[in-house]
Amino acid sequence: MDKERLISKIMEKPELREIPIEDVEMAISLCIKKDSSDEEVISRARKLLHDVYGAFGSRKLLVQGKNKERDPEWILRKHLSTRERLPHYNTIYSRILGNFKGTIFDLGAGVNGFSLGFIPKVKYVGIEGIGQLVNLMNNYFHTQKNVNAKTIHLSLFQLEKIKNLIKKEGNLSKRGQVKGKKIVFLFKVLDSLEMLKKNYSKELLLEISPLVERVVVSFATESFNKRTRFKVKRYWLINFIQENFKITDDFEIGGERYIVFENKK
Ligand SMILES: C[S@@+](CC[C@H](N)C(=O)[O-])C[C@H]1O[C@@H](n2cnc3c(N)ncnc32)[C@H](O)[C@@H]1O
Repeated sequence: MDKERLISKIMEKPELREIPIEDVEMAISLCIKKDSSDEEVISRARKLLHDVYGAFGSRKLLVQGKNKERDPEWILRKHLSTRERLPHYNTIYSRILGNFKGTIFDLGAGVNGFSLGFIPKVKYVGIEGIGQLVNLMNNYFHTQKNVNAKTIHLSLFQLEKIKNLIKKEGNLSKRGQVKGKKIVFLFKVLDSLEMLKKNYSKELLLEISPLVERVVVSFATESFNKRTRFKVKRYWLINFIQENFKITDDFEIGGERYIVFENKK
């Protein structure tokens, strides 16, 4: 089977139908082994992409047009990441953002754009790989008054595009000065990136942190299903952040650890 055909076969699954093709290609290269049949490659690549993309949200969220009238909390409860965060949003955002004024770039946003009601007046730019979730958030933003928000359909592996977007969205005044500040959220997303490209998180953090005032990385400290703590503590990530950046806050709430950091001056 040629590569185009493999890609379209893999993407027949509803949860994989609108993910970036670059990511499907990466999954195929990781799953092709010597002597493996097309069916084996398709099944392995689907499983990998399901772990990266499909494991968190309810399929109900992917049905186009069906959730237009839903209230934000209903949507937030249908995605594992936001469901766990829902009772804590006020505390988390006031701690992370304080009186921040500027633009939030939410990378691998999931449905986190529906938490805009908890965020003080800011500009919000989500970036998400699942097209259906991008549409869901943008439809919601259009129904809201006085909201400056959008979500863009992009793979987080498209690093140059993301960097350009962050630079361009920078609230520049006519004289080219930065008017507002910029902050990047990477909530519970680095593990997904590592599944397709080892150490890509480090590259991403090094490339984007000079473009913004602050970065917030989060990861789960408890498993989704059982309330047991993970054995893996992600020392590789914490050590990397400690070595390369200045950590300004580090706290855990609702089974999620948030590390806030900025570039070393
Ligand atoms: C565990 S969810 C977290 C969602 C959100 N950040 C939150 O914490 O509420 C990971 C999200 O990252 C997205 N994602 C994973 N890999 C991606 C990639 N390469 N490009 C864009 N989005 C990606 C998935 O579709 C999913 O919505």
